[in-house]
Amino acid sequence: MARSSSDLHGRRWWRSSTARILLGVASVIVTAAVLVTAPGADAAASTLGAAAAQSGRYFGTAIAGGRLGNSAYTTIAAREFDMVTAENEMKPDATEPNQNQFNFSAGDQIYNWAVSHGLRVRGHTLAWHAQQPGWMQNMNGSALRSAMINHIQKVMAHYQGKLAHWDVVNEAFNEDGSRRSSNLQGTGNDWIEVAFRTARAADPSVKLCYNDYNIDNWNYGKTQGVYNMVRDFKARGVPIDCVGLQAHFTGGSSVPSNFQTTISSFAALGVDVALTEVDVTNASTAQYTALTQACLNVARCVGITVWGVRDSDSWRSSESPLLFDGNGNKKAAYNSVLNALNAGSPTTTPTTPTTPTTPGGGGCTATLSAGQTWSDRYNLNVSVSGSSAWTVTMTVPSPARISAAWNINGTWPSSQVLVAKPNGNGSNWGVTIQHNGNWNWPSVSCSAS
Ligand code: XIL
Repeated sequence: MARSSSDLHGRRWWRSSTARILLGVASVIVTAAVLVTAPGADAAASTLGAAAAQSGRYFGTAIAGGRLGNSAYTTIAAREFDMVTAENEMKPDATEPNQNQFNFSAGDQIYNWAVSHGLRVRGHTLAWHAQQPGWMQNMNGSALRSAMINHIQKVMAHYQGKLAHWDVVNEAFNEDGSRRSSNLQGTGNDWIEVAFRTARAADPSVKLCYNDYNIDNWNYGKTQGVYNMVRDFKARGVPIDCVGLQAHFTGGSSVPSNFQTTISSFAALGVDVALTEVDVTNASTAQYTALTQACLNVARCVGITVWGVRDSDSWRSSESPLLFDGNGNKKAAYNSVLNALNAGSPTTTPTTPTTPTTPGGGGCTATLSAGQTWSDRYNLNVSVSGSSAWTVTMTVPSPARISAAWNINGTWPSSQVLVAKPNGNGSNWGVTIQHNGNWNWPSVSCSAS
C-alpha cells in the first residue's frame, strides 16, 4: 500500500530525538489528563437523575398537576428527576369522565411540563379497579369488557409514541395470590391478557407493564401470584415487557430482606422491573439504601420512581416518606440514595451512535443526523428531500426500540419499525430511540408517491 507523503514526513520527524522527548512529555500529560477525567472515576453526579443515568437507569417522581404552579416544587422536580408519573391525571376517571368522551387536558399538562424539561413519562394507568369514572363503576360483563378495550385504545392512541412505559393493569391480585374480585375480573379471567394484547396493538412503541403493591417479598402469596401470571404470559406470548413493584414501604410495610431476589426473579422471566411508587415510613435511610442497592444489583431493574417530591406532597404525608422535607431540603435518605446510585458500577457506556445510513432510491432521500444523546436513548433528526409526498420506513436493530417520533404521521408495524409520512408541516422530523445496548443507527428507505 502506498504511503502518503505526510506519513513519510511524520516518520522523519519522529526520528528526531527532540521530537521524541517532546512527545514523551506530552503523552505523560495526556495520560494524566485522561486519568483525571475518565468516566466513572470522576466526580460523583449531584442529582438523582444524573446519578441513576450513570448505570443506564432513570430516577423518577410522581407529579401532581395541581402543584405545577409551585416553583419550589417544579424547581426540585426538574433538577433531580428524569422520569415522571402523573399521580392521578392519566387514570381512567381523569381521562374518560363520560363514556367515550376523553379529556387529556390534565394528563397533557404533566406530559408537556415533563418533556419541556427533558424528563420522560410513564403512563399510569389504563385498567384498574380503583379510580374508575362513575359510569364505569356501574358497568359489568361484556359492556365493561368493550369499554375497557375502547379506553385502552383511545388513551394509548392519544399518547402514541410519546411514553416510556404504560402501567396497563394495576393491582389485580389479592394478598393470597388469587385474583382480586372487581367488575373487571367479573368480565372473565382473561381480562388482563386482553388488556395487554389491546395495548400492544394500540402503541407498539411503549413498554407494557403490570404494576402492583405488596409484591416485594419473594415468599409472599401475592408476589407468587403475579410471578405465575407473568411466567404464563411469557410462555404463551401475551405481550408484557415489565413489572412495576410499587414499593410503598409505608402503612406498616418495610423492605423485605429478599427484595433483590424478587426483582431478579421477575427479571429472569425476561421482563424489565421498575420500582414505581417508592415511599418509606419516616424515610429510613437503611431502607432507602437497601431498595436502591437491590435495584442496582439487577441489570434489568431499569429505574426507580418515588411517589412525590417533598413530604408535604405525599399521599401519606404524615409518614414523611420522601426524599425532600416540606421546605424542599434534602433529607438524610436523599444522600443515602444519591451515594448508592453514585457507587453503582456504570454499565458499559456506549460511545456515540455509529455511522449514519445514507439512504436513497424511490424518488426521495432521507438523511439522518445525530440529535441529543442520553445514557439510555438518543435522538435522530431526519430530513427528507426529493419529494414532498414521501414515505420513510425506519427499522432499528434489535433490541433497540423507537420510543417517540415528532412532526410526522406515523404508523408502527412493530416497536422496531416506523412508517413515517408527512403531517403537512415540512420534511424535517425526528425520532427518539431507546438503544437497549445497540447504538447502531436504523436503516431507512424512502419512497415518493
Ligand atoms: C394515589 C395518589 O397518590 C392519591 O393522590 C390518590 O388519591 C389515590 O391514588 N397505588 C397506585 C397509585 O397505583 O395510583 C396510588 O396513587 C397509590 C397506590
